[in-house]
Amino acid sequence: MARIIGGIATTHVPAIGKAIAENKQDDPYWRPFFKGFDFVHGWLARNRPDIAVVFYNDHGLNFFLDKLPTFAVGAAQTYRNEDEGWGIPVARSIAGDPAFSWHLINSLVADEFDITICQEMLVDHAVTVPMALMWPGQSWGGIRIVPVSINTVQHPLPSMARCLKLGRSIGNAIEAYQQDVRVLVVGTGGLSHQLDGTRAGFINKEFDQLCLNKIVNEPEHLTQYSTHDLVVKAGAQGVEFLNWMAMRGALPGHVVEMHRNYHIPISNTAAATVVLESRMEATQRAA
Ligand code: DHB
Ligand code: FE
Repeated sequence: MARIIGGIATTHVPAIGKAIAENKQDDPYWRPFFKGFDFVHGWLARNRPDIAVVFYNDHGLNFFLDKLPTFAVGAAQTYRNEDEGWGIPVARSIAGDPAFSWHLINSLVADEFDITICQEMLVDHAVTVPMALMWPGQSWGGIRIVPVSINTVQHPLPSMARCLKLGRSIGNAIEAYQQDVRVLVVGTGGLSHQLDGTRAGFINKEFDQLCLNKIVNEPEHLTQYSTHDLVVKAGAQGVEFLNWMAMRGALPGHVVEMHRNYHIPISNTAAATVVLESRMEATQRAA
């Protein structure tokens, strides 16, 4: 049977991709952020995932405002990146796992999630930057991915509660998969940031800390915030926290925080990285 080894959430700022391409990990500006990945690398080496389900938001590379699904699931053999205009090199393609994708898709639809199924899907910096942070050198750790795109761009956005439920449904599907694979769940983006408008540069440390604390074992607490509240409290792009909620929803049992790094600013963003692990013996997943 498949096993969920844990969850990782991290910021996906394109400037991080540029810093990697220019080998600036030890520069004073970048070091406090990149140092936070030493733990992640050790944890991944110990836990050896075969597959990662990556909750992220597309920023106009694969989907645009003309057609923007609320939830879209990849079912491709490989996922290509393309130049988004951020000045970072195009990343190597990342392998998919169509059989595993279709298992998740069948289970989601049976669970009444009306998703968009993508047999072709370009992945943007919201997938490639976290992958490069987790597995430096574009080896991608030899793993396969299932990208799950959540609309954080065109309002109305799905609610925090809906994203938590999406994650739960995927978590249940992963655990019902018959093959012996080790699965990592990833959520990308956030924390608070706003890239344009009169509040450009907005960061809310207090709200970020609340989100970091509550996501571990009280994610339901955060469902009190509407997506409008989230824009007010976390910034227009801070709504990317929806991806973190989906990641958390996929984790079964009692959750333990193994690692946290929070650093302001990286580009316009409050940058954060967490590693979470499930302790199955304590409690079972909520229905
Ligand atoms: C930045 C943050 C993002 O989430 C993104 O998608 C692009 C840019 C930034 O802080 O520069
Ligand atoms: Fe983003």
